[in-house]
Amino acid sequence: MVSSSSQKILVTGGAGFIGTHTVVQLLKGGFSVSIIDNFDNSVMEAVDRVREVVGPHLSQNLEFTQGDLRNRDDLEKLFSKTTFDAVIHFAGLKAVAESVAKPRRYFDFNLVGTINLYEVMAKYNCKKMVFSSSATVYGQPEKIPCEEDFKLQAMNPYGRTKLFLEEIARDIQKAEPEWRIVLLRYFNPVGAHESGKLGEDPKGIPNNLMPYIQQVAVGRLPELNVYGYDYPTRDGSAIRDYIHVMDLADGHIAALRKLFTMENIGCTAYNLGTGRGTSVFEMVAAFEKASGKNIPIKLCPKRPGDATEVYASTEKAEKELGWKAKYGVEEMCRDQWNWAKNNPWGYAGKP
Ligand code: WQD
Repeated sequence: MVSSSSQKILVTGGAGFIGTHTVVQLLKGGFSVSIIDNFDNSVMEAVDRVREVVGPHLSQNLEFTQGDLRNRDDLEKLFSKTTFDAVIHFAGLKAVAESVAKPRRYFDFNLVGTINLYEVMAKYNCKKMVFSSSATVYGQPEKIPCEEDFKLQAMNPYGRTKLFLEEIARDIQKAEPEWRIVLLRYFNPVGAHESGKLGEDPKGIPNNLMPYIQQVAVGRLPELNVYGYDYPTRDGSAIRDYIHVMDLADGHIAALRKLFTMENIGCTAYNLGTGRGTSVFEMVAAFEKASGKNIPIKLCPKRPGDATEVYASTEKAEKELGWKAKYGVEEMCRDQWNWAKNNPWGYAGKP
């Protein structure tokens, strides 16, 4: 039973890594939440953990439906029975390497699903959206830190879906000014909820650095391949703007509140990063310190398409959303290790 007083938010992909952490913060922030997820890269246990984290009272404001945005009927069933005040749209595939091998799968999931969502939202007059975009739309930035008005370019099919979806959002809002859309460009989400009950649990071999390091630390993988050790950086390894997933979650709450209060927000993009860069070697050292574990590494050639150094300008989000990342690399590694040591085999447990 969802309480009638609070604003109702549909969270697509809400069983995923960023989705679950954001749902926790939404419920704690007094919102009612409905999750739709197709479990392509998530499991029901993650939703159960959200209920554990927020407790029985707030869990009354959480509903879950298994469904796929590519099936318009799944969306119709949701919107016909609940009036949503806004949508936070996470659902989508996000593995760069997989997108190169299977572009049709990425265009199907990410583009068709989102277009269906816009159509059903419009039909039920729900025209406020927070969209999960990515720093990947900056491609190989010509300078850093990345600013929201930089030229946008995609380096792979995954990045192209994010760029296309940003352009689609801008076109829709230009044609129908009643839409309010915030595009949140995530840098590199890492870490976990302080409880150790929620965290990143990618299916298969992790593509990203931190879940890979985490699996080496718990003994699931033998060593970390470091892709590139002669970059023109302070230690030769590539630099990224890693951001704690709880900071990212709070960025969504700030964006949502802005949507409800700022009528003329139009379609606006914000970077969600810390504004600081950390190298691969520095992140490995920080995780070893937090976990007390040795992370064996193997020096490998650069990954095609990887940028040397990327980090965010955070001024716009600070000024307009009143949001600034609170946590540093030490807390990111502390919390990521707390999740990993308590859940070495993720939500499903050892096979
Ligand atoms: C970070 C650094 C790698 C793995 C991508 C997407 C982005 C977002 C985050 C979805 C790079 C190095 C990595 C490994 C390594 N995804 N690395 N060994 O590529 O910055 O961003 O994921 O929103 O949109 O583009 O993240 O974690 O894959 O890599 O050395 O086993 O770690 O070369 O320098 P990336 P990443």
